[in-house]
Amino acid sequence: MTRVGWYGLGSMGLAMATNLQKHMATKVTVNSLLYSNRTMTRGDPLKALGATPETNFSKLVAQCGVIFTMVSNDSVLQNLISTVTDSNQSLKDKIFVDCSTIHPETVGLTVAKLKSKQADFLAAPVFGGNPIAVDGKLIFAIAGPKRASDIVKPLIQGVMGRRVIDCGEDAKKSALLKIAGNIITINLMEAVGEAQVFAERTGLGTSAMEDLIGDAFGPVAGGYSKRLTTGAYAPPLDSRPGFGVSLAIKDANHAFAIAKENSVELPGLQVATENMVAAREYAGECVDSSSMYGILRQKAEMEFWNEKSRKG
Ligand SMILES: NC(=O)c1ccc[n+]([C@@H]2O[C@H](COP(=O)([O-])OP(=O)(O)OC[C@H]3O[C@@H](n4cnc5c(N)ncnc54)[C@H](OP(=O)(O)O)[C@@H]3O)[C@@H](O)[C@H]2O)c1
Repeated sequence: MTRVGWYGLGSMGLAMATNLQKHMATKVTVNSLLYSNRTMTRGDPLKALGATPETNFSKLVAQCGVIFTMVSNDSVLQNLISTVTDSNQSLKDKIFVDCSTIHPETVGLTVAKLKSKQADFLAAPVFGGNPIAVDGKLIFAIAGPKRASDIVKPLIQGVMGRRVIDCGEDAKKSALLKIAGNIITINLMEAVGEAQVFAERTGLGTSAMEDLIGDAFGPVAGGYSKRLTTGAYAPPLDSRPGFGVSLAIKDANHAFAIAKENSVELPGLQVATENMVAAREYAGECVDSSSMYGILRQKAEMEFWNEKSRKG
């Protein structure tokens, strides 16, 4: 079994890599996970589980046959890939698996770059937030060469994910599915935020509303409601939001660009995105994608902050 490497230990990456390392530790003949991140101290919990730190991405790639990445956005991924493709390092037969949410065009460029070095690229974006990543219950959409997905699927199914949706050999397809899925995610956050502001202002109360949301509309919608009622939409400044607002704005912008090329209108997403941009302007980077709720509160003549969120 080839060595497995991991780059990117943010809100999602650390949880996913932790499950992967725990799984690999059960296989006596498999090497520990080799990990890297811009902020290496984020990997301390992984090291405590037996994973091995490597500060240099090129050195990590040199030692591994399968390399997972989970980073913020397209440019971070492109920089990482260029580090290895622009060097003389051999990448022959290596498999790069990116789980970040990126534009299909970035996927296409990355596939071509790696192909010229005889390496494979699998686009494997994920559905589900940090608590679902911690539970190893994410949904993965994967696409790319069959040889690569056959090797990688056992590292995902039942380890980091509860379901793998196979989108075939064209890696751009799974990136497209992820962006389409986030049209629903962001609209649902807006809908839950609107309902909760309505419930608070009318005197109905957020607790009854949350019971209904969780039971009638399912655990995902219920989880979004909890981000509001627990104040997680605006967490303390020294913490990391579950799904940072800038990441969701990036995803929405990818959807708008693709929609425009295909004459599709996304009016609901437009409203939600304007509210996320306003939330970021008001409260800064350290807010969750559900922080459109704070703007909806302001529009209803309440404070951006609620009793459980940070206050400024
Ligand atoms: N959070 C969610 O609920 C969720 C769900 C599904 C998909 N996604 C997608 O998954 C990806 C990761 O999300 P996340 O929530 O884990 O993000 P995050 O917590 O912001 O973590 C981002 C990761 O990228 C690294 N990074 C950022 N800028 C960098 C740079 N300039 N150079 C090198 N590394 C850099 C960070 O390193 P540091 O640790 O050093 O900052 C960190 O490892 C995103 O594409 C997001 O859209 C997120």
